[in-house]
Amino acid sequence: LMAHTKTDTEPISSPGPNMEPQEGSDCCSCPEKWVGYRCNCYFISSEVKTWNESRSFCVSQNSSLLQLQNRDELGFMQFSKRFYWIGLSYNEERGAWLWEDGSAPSWDLFLSLETPDPKKCIVYKPMNGVVDESCEKENYYICKKTVVDSM
Ligand SMILES: *[C@@H]1O[C@H](CO)[C@@H](O)[C@H](O)[C@H]1NC(C)=O
Ligand SMILES: *[C@@H]1O[C@H](CO)[C@@H](O)[C@H](O)[C@H]1NC(C)=O
Repeated sequence: LMAHTKTDTEPISSPGPNMEPQEGSDCCSCPEKWVGYRCNCYFISSEVKTWNESRSFCVSQNSSLLQLQNRDELGFMQFSKRFYWIGLSYNEERGAWLWEDGSAPSWDLFLSLETPDPKKCIVYKPMNGVVDESCEKENYYICKKTVVDSM
């Protein structure tokens, strides 16, 4: 006799720029072209900019360059092969790497890390690691905003 079992597996999204990340967790209501995932909205750029330009773009969209909360936060992008600028930069005054909101990162969020060069900026490969690169280099980037219920 054969046991007939059906295993439900999550559909595997295809890698690359045309991937369709899962959208619309019920608490997410994101602007067009943004991806809703676990109550946050993400803008995954499809064009490259310097770190500063990327940050400015995110700010112009009332968001900020990605600040990671946990290691598997971008699980929906696990097949992405790209590196993206995130919101980490070296603060000379405080002599430390800080997120855009001034808080310090927990480096164990990143699977790989060599001591980053303070003169550089950080690119992140989702579910993978980080690398430091010249801030003037053009890279893809990710903006994030947390969804707050209006009213
Ligand atoms: C970004 O631009 C500001 C203002 O032009 C400059 O002071 C800062 O050094 C730049 N940061 C990076 C990482 O390039
Ligand atoms: C950003 O917020 C301001 C003030 O609430 C609003 O007027 C503007 O439309 C917002 N811009 C975007 C791109 O959401």
